[in-house]
Amino acid sequence: MADSEITGRGNWNSKLGFILAAAGSAVGLGNIWRFPTEAASNGGGAFLLIYLVCCFLIGYPVMMAEIGIGRRTGKNPVGAFKALSSNKLYPLIGMWGVLCGVMILSFYTVVAGWTVSYVFEEIFFAAGMTGWATWIADTSNGWLNALFAVAFMACTISIIRSGVSNGIEKATKTLMPLLFIVLFILIGYVITQPGSGEGLAVYLQPDFSEVTPGLVFAAMGQAFFSLSLGMGALITYGSYLSRKENVPQAAALVTFTDTLVAFLAGLLIIPAMYMAQAQGISIFDSAGDLIAGPALIFQVLPALFHDLGGVLGVVFGVTFFMLLSVAALTSTISLLEVPVSYAIDEFKIKRKDAALYIGLGILAISIVIAFNTGLIGTIDLIFSQVGLPLGGIMICLFLSYVWKTDKALDELELGNNNFRNSIVGKTWKVFIMFICPVVILYNLLSALGLF
Ligand code: PHE
Repeated sequence: MADSEITGRGNWNSKLGFILAAAGSAVGLGNIWRFPTEAASNGGGAFLLIYLVCCFLIGYPVMMAEIGIGRRTGKNPVGAFKALSSNKLYPLIGMWGVLCGVMILSFYTVVAGWTVSYVFEEIFFAAGMTGWATWIADTSNGWLNALFAVAFMACTISIIRSGVSNGIEKATKTLMPLLFIVLFILIGYVITQPGSGEGLAVYLQPDFSEVTPGLVFAAMGQAFFSLSLGMGALITYGSYLSRKENVPQAAALVTFTDTLVAFLAGLLIIPAMYMAQAQGISIFDSAGDLIAGPALIFQVLPALFHDLGGVLGVVFGVTFFMLLSVAALTSTISLLEVPVSYAIDEFKIKRKDAALYIGLGILAISIVIAFNTGLIGTIDLIFSQVGLPLGGIMICLFLSYVWKTDKALDELELGNNNFRNSIVGKTWKVFIMFICPVVILYNLLSALGLF
């Protein structure tokens, strides 16, 4: 293990390592649990379309900005803003990011714990132990929620304690390809089943009458959450990146991978809901709306897997929830890495101690949430739906008017010669200076009813 791995800052071993780790951060419960849920409750195809626009036109430029800031300064989000300006106010942008990260990780750990408990649920069900299956799948049981949250946080802490290349990079390199394989197999199965065609239509045919400020707000919040933007996760990951690498290209790959997984997850889950309906499972709630929220994945899909029965049912059930756990783990490590890198850089705390104590501190919040799952919606609204786009605006404005786009372009040109004169480079400048901040702000204000 390299010295820097033990005492603090590390580096990615390879470009692929960075891309997989950043894509691993991006791909998570956001894609597989949150995206299909949001799409299902916001008109399917219309949501998908606006979401894609948000990812590529808003998310991609902000991602380049974050990685650029991180690589230029080689610092955590708070240290990065300190390094680029002497004004004491700007590091508050990083502080807000760290706070959002801590709060997101606190509820994320509880939901991630559910994904593990459902692996057991599927196994118990297949073994005929239905009583145990029902017991372990009860997401209203605070003690169980807490137990699985503890287990999940323990995994996250142990990976972060191992450092950047030995921990994060190694873990994501094996986990990410596995995720793709399982996703493809499941989709192949679902879309060839009766009933799934109706779901495909709902998902792929946009109904523009559904586009409302609320939908755009949800799609934008989802894009920020899913791409891990607005809170400095990519400033942190960018700080471990070598000057030789091509940032615009790496950011494009990460954006593309993340959006592809979200798209594929929708392609799996929305048709699966209709397939479940064809098998007599109810997919509409008492008000006649499509089941959404946490219930979507944790109720409809197990019912579908059970209905399949036999070996097939258990194999699909177990692999699906394992896939979700894996995706969640590569995201929780990036969420924990943000406050940990802050503690290492700014307070000179050893990586192993920082990971342990900060992880335990966040776990304490998770345990409160485990007993009060109703808090998830509120924390998600404040720190992801509003918090991340807000962080995004501040990052755009800081880069454009404090650090200055010209200096940022100097950084982006390392590894990408003459980027500023390319079409992407020129467009990026206009987007980061004007379009992204204005569109995000307008969207936030109109969804809050202030515009
Ligand atoms: N992008 C992750 C997901 O989709 C969540 C996340 C948000 C991770 C913000 C890091 C930072 O699940």
